[in-house]
Amino acid sequence: MIRKLANNVYFVGAIDWDRKLFDELIPLPNGTTYNSYLVKGQEKIALIDTVDPKKEEEFFNNLDKLNIGKIDYVVSNHAEQDHSGLINKVVEKYGAKVVTNEKCAEFLKTHVHVKDDDIKIIKDGEELDLGGKTLKFVFTPWSHWPETMVTYLKEDKVLFSCDLFGSHFATSDIEQKGGEKLLEMAKRYFAEIMMPFRSIIKKNIEKIEQLDIEKIAPSHGPIYSNPSFILNEYKKWVSDIVKNEVVVLYVSMHDSTKKMIEYLADKLMDEGLSVKLHNIVNSDIGEIAVDLVDASTVVIGTPMVLAGVHPLMAGAIYLVNALRPKTKYLALVGSYGWGGRFIDEIKEMTKNLKAEIFEPVVVKGLISKKDYKKLDNLVNEIIKRNKD
Ligand code: FEO
Repeated sequence: MIRKLANNVYFVGAIDWDRKLFDELIPLPNGTTYNSYLVKGQEKIALIDTVDPKKEEEFFNNLDKLNIGKIDYVVSNHAEQDHSGLINKVVEKYGAKVVTNEKCAEFLKTHVHVKDDDIKIIKDGEELDLGGKTLKFVFTPWSHWPETMVTYLKEDKVLFSCDLFGSHFATSDIEQKGGEKLLEMAKRYFAEIMMPFRSIIKKNIEKIEQLDIEKIAPSHGPIYSNPSFILNEYKKWVSDIVKNEVVVLYVSMHDSTKKMIEYLADKLMDEGLSVKLHNIVNSDIGEIAVDLVDASTVVIGTPMVLAGVHPLMAGAIYLVNALRPKTKYLALVGSYGWGGRFIDEIKEMTKNLKAEIFEPVVVKGLISKKDYKKLDNLVNEIIKRNKD
């Protein structure tokens, strides 16, 4: 599919309706797209990123539809293979020079074996004149990887933002104003990909906002014809502001932990708190990630297995810690059969969270009367911190 974004500016990317998993980890309930853009100046033609190599045929067909015989530059905003995987083929077929920053060049050489001689290095803020179309390169590190940058097309006020502001959302409606579905997909993408880097992304957004932008064209999902729609949401997500929401993650073997979690969640809901509960045995990690974006509090409930945290919960905790959400409070609840030190393990595993940890509630066997009192105290602490 090709789509015109502006005069002599085209979407030439590929839609991956079938992809169900990214990085063999992240579920893609709505597939994804790999967006590549063609900018035709009066003198030179530039391609902004390529697509995932598995979509090679579709991508080159798109360029054929536009009768492209020569491409002068292929801009690489990000070295990850879903955008850079076909760069060498573009160089080979169209004689293009690869335009990128120094860090990205280093990655392109190691990750997809782009040759040194084929690369033109640009600096932050540098411009490239295509003849009536000017590309300005703005470095936005850690908008996934350390080398990431965005490219701004001055005359048409289009920002090619690569992963930043993206969404894994396969749709032929490739340019959208906003809407609930796009917001859901973009927030999920933010949670899974961008959340760990939110402090630096906040600075990147401030830098981007110096530009006069009419369209944001990311490398996954729809183009935003109303940039403030996504910019305003991102500003909320990267801020330190949390909502009075409690994310509960649990796993239970003989229902002891389950009873504790259900009791605690019920009490919190009785107090009007928003609770998002996930039994991690069958949860979608993308949904957990989304729920972590705004929540003030995370509750972890696990039994002990082999003298430690239940392995499924260990995986979930690893992910929560790696995603670095802005969680302010952490509550730990668990049960065991005969002994163990799983609470210390969890504390060690959640060091990236700068959260206050409440007094854990750990019971031997099935929960008893005195343990319910401890749970009540924990509930009171959570409520106290979530009142404003
Ligand atoms: Fe879409 Fe970080 O690659």
